[in-house]
Amino acid sequence: MPRIPEDILERIRDATDIVDVVSEHVQLGKKGRNFFGLCPFHDEKSPSFSVNPDRQIYHCFGCGVGGNVFKFLQEVDRVTFMEAVKFLAERTGINLPERSGPSREEADSADRLYRANDLAQKYFHHMLLNDEAGTEAREYLLARRLEPETIERFGIGYATPGWDGLLKAAGHRDLPPQIMEQAGLALPRQSGNGHYDRFRDRVTFPIANLSNRTIAFGARALQPDQEPKYLNSPETPIYHKGRVLYGLSDTRDAVRRQDSVIVVEGYMDLISLVQAGIEHVAATSGTALTEDHCRTLARYAHKVVLLFDGDAAGSTAAMRGLEVLLSTKIDARVVSLPPEHDPDTFVQEHGPDTLLARAENAQSVLDFYLQQLALHHDLSSVEGKSRAVETFKPLLTKLDKPQDAIRRDLLLREVSQRLSIDEQALRDEVKASVRHPRAPRRIENEPRQAPLPDPPKLELEFIGLLLNFPQYIPDTAREFAIETLTDPRVQALCRMLFNRHAENKTIDVGMMINELDDDTLSRLITKCEAEGFDEEQSEQQWRDYLRHFQKKSNQAHIDAARQALGQAAASNDEDEIARISTELVQLNRQRQAFVAEQNS
Ligand code: CTP
Ligand code: MN
Repeated sequence: MPRIPEDILERIRDATDIVDVVSEHVQLGKKGRNFFGLCPFHDEKSPSFSVNPDRQIYHCFGCGVGGNVFKFLQEVDRVTFMEAVKFLAERTGINLPERSGPSREEADSADRLYRANDLAQKYFHHMLLNDEAGTEAREYLLARRLEPETIERFGIGYATPGWDGLLKAAGHRDLPPQIMEQAGLALPRQSGNGHYDRFRDRVTFPIANLSNRTIAFGARALQPDQEPKYLNSPETPIYHKGRVLYGLSDTRDAVRRQDSVIVVEGYMDLISLVQAGIEHVAATSGTALTEDHCRTLARYAHKVVLLFDGDAAGSTAAMRGLEVLLSTKIDARVVSLPPEHDPDTFVQEHGPDTLLARAENAQSVLDFYLQQLALHHDLSSVEGKSRAVETFKPLLTKLDKPQDAIRRDLLLREVSQRLSIDEQALRDEVKASVRHPRAPRRIENEPRQAPLPDPPKLELEFIGLLLNFPQYIPDTAREFAIETLTDPRVQALCRMLFNRHAENKTIDVGMMINELDDDTLSRLITKCEAEGFDEEQSEQQWRDYLRHFQKKSNQAHIDAARQALGQAAASNDEDEIARISTELVQLNRQRQAFVAEQNS
């Protein structure tokens, strides 16, 4: 249960437009009163994710997720409820009440990890700009031709050589070493106790999530012989490198405008391109492109251009990234730079226009991929060919959904031609490996479990009606027993409606979601909410639903009573027989009344 008073939550929500917030993550288009886009929580090709600006809620007709703006941030940024509230409070300038001690929720939440990274960001940046110790780093960045505005824009910093500069600063702000360790910013000493700073004598690049919060760092050595060249934050509860794209929180508007994104591999590559005026860029920070990356990119643009370092194109990581792209529907292209260049040096030497021209004429991913296969395998030998096929097979077997059929077909044809292999033979081989698949690859932190089976449709519609027209709640509460509903989740929602009404609270889906700590209920409620109802017919509909449930309940009681009567008769329990008979008379009368009503 939130500790923040409901009226403050309401103020924050009123001051926020869910469409704005969602737009930062999803490309939305208006359709009628609502907005639609590709769901950020499951993979889809046509938009079934809707945002309702009137009710300030979202709902996905594809995977069933739904909620208010707090819920959205919780899910999309994987933060706690508190964290989402705080974020929006800050954004809207609404003050949250001070609390005496840290709540349990806060203690074990991501909040402190964000605070730790935020502090580190400010600390490193300050050291770079103002501290004596930062001189060398400043010169280094100057030598790499970074302008002060660029350093500012990307929050670049410097971690000093000492062992505990950051730890000390953190201590003053109530961030103990354990938290710094969890945030990936400190390491426990091998011998004895105590901690030391992870990043020392390095230029730091803060990595932000799409809510613009620092979640990790990449840190570059100043000296050429210092190993490793880049040291990165480890994975933490708030940082998953396979999910985040460096720079995108800054560049996504440009990406959206261009409907195209250039993907590079390094922090400096991204920064250098942006400084040169090419702003639709994102970076993978040294990892292969993942499915999560593609999903994220697809939300902002239809076209992806991979820009490979001259020497990196054929690497295993690069090939894996290409395979991921090949299995998606994104229009993906590849530019491979000359061997001596990476995007940073290329743009510095040849200028942005040359680079953009190359991106414009980029090769298709498939072309490029097959070309690489040919480079790395001796396709004139049988053995080389079969190894090339082995490399390619996992991708083909991955395209196993019905909607992938055409794409798989094309790939099969293309590959067999390129490698001069008999197409049918290739098909057979792929089929064989589908039949004996290798253990499926677990994707870490799978975004979402399958939605639970829904309760009876009519029950949901009924709650939806009450949500849309709360004026019927008092009568419903009088005439209707909650137990008449068969699904316990719908019962819970109904009870909540009655309670809120009894307590004179507003019937507002958004606010109710805050009260529901059950995810399933949140989903159901937005699902109910999304049902379309007609104002004029609402009263008739309400009566119809009510009657329907009453009849059903009546019939269920009759059945139960008959069964009980049979048992009582079998055991000759006269009192019981008499009691149930009276009850049955009542129930049957009720049923006749329903029938009469129907016929009138
Ligand atoms: N990388 C890493 N760890 C390393 C080396 C590289 O995480 N030891 C990642 C970094 O994100 C880096 C990217 O891989 O930005 C590309 O590496 P590389 O091409 O070696 O470096 P550059 O980006 O060209 O960096 P710089 O220009 O500073 O040399
Ligand atoms: Mn470089």
